Amino acid sequence: MRLALSRRPHTIAPVFFYDERGSWLFEAICQQPEYYVTRVEMGMLQEHAAAIAERIGPDAELVEFGAGSSRKFRTLLAALHAPRRYVPIDVSGAHLQQEAAALRRDHPLLEVTPVVADFMQPFRLPPSRPAARQRVGLYLGSSLGNFDADEARAFLAMAGRALAGGGLLVGIDLVKDPAVLHAAYNDAAGVTAAFNRNLLVRANHELHTDFHPERFYHHACYAPALQRVEMHLVSMTRQTVRLDGESFTLAEGESLHTECAHKFTLNGFRALSESVGLQPGTVWLDAQRWFALQWLDCPPLTGSDPFPGAHRPSPT
Ligand code: AVI
Repeated sequence: MRLALSRRPHTIAPVFFYDERGSWLFEAICQQPEYYVTRVEMGMLQEHAAAIAERIGPDAELVEFGAGSSRKFRTLLAALHAPRRYVPIDVSGAHLQQEAAALRRDHPLLEVTPVVADFMQPFRLPPSRPAARQRVGLYLGSSLGNFDADEARAFLAMAGRALAGGGLLVGIDLVKDPAVLHAAYNDAAGVTAAFNRNLLVRANHELHTDFHPERFYHHACYAPALQRVEMHLVSMTRQTVRLDGESFTLAEGESLHTECAHKFTLNGFRALSESVGLQPGTVWLDAQRWFALQWLDCPPLTGSDPFPGAHRPSPT
């Protein structure tokens, strides 16, 4: 936060949205009629579960990055052919353990091994089960869109290593009419605005800043040239914020840039994946072509490094 307040433009990493209240508010966003992302993707997972399960194949070990409530995995589970294990990864430990326990209760034969980690930092995956034929990753919800291009490449490269010889299914939100995007990030009930302002509430609790969240308005707008929705908190007045005895002044109209949600073209996403050695395969689209589930083959590791510059989860 000190870094965000002392540099201009003021940019805060979206990962800070997700304290307990932020995660709850995000779940509420997913229920808003304007926020089509979750609804469309869930519909696609239901509709194409059998074809996706076919692509995943029998005896696979499923690794879900940013698993949250595991709701999407549950949608696929009934269609999967003898899954060997489910490895949900998330930063929110308590929530992850609760969901894992519920999944074990509902599916006593499924082995569930949760991993509490920020997967953008070096982390450890449990060794593959000997009976597993391949590892398949799930990265759903268009969370990849919240990364910048370098981070997205680093994620795909890391996943390619972790899943070498298997595949990765990525949910990506596609470029579309800006009016649809504008509505999705400016819901009428104000839930996205509350989610955005919660960042300041969290900073006040955890960092003892003295933000007045009501003196900032929520601004979310699609920038076509950058293919992304940008979310900001804009200062309504000139105001001063204190952090650890230091004062930072925000001018009237100055913003804190809190999130980017990149939207993709199919070709753009395929090129991004290929740039780190992943091979695009089947893609599933909804009828309006708003959202895509893109399958990526992850080549087996060879002596030479197909993903230079990426860290490798260990051991694999
Ligand atoms: C988590 N992520 C994919 C959401 C998105 O659409 O970028 C976060 C979000 N921010 C505002 N509304 C939803």
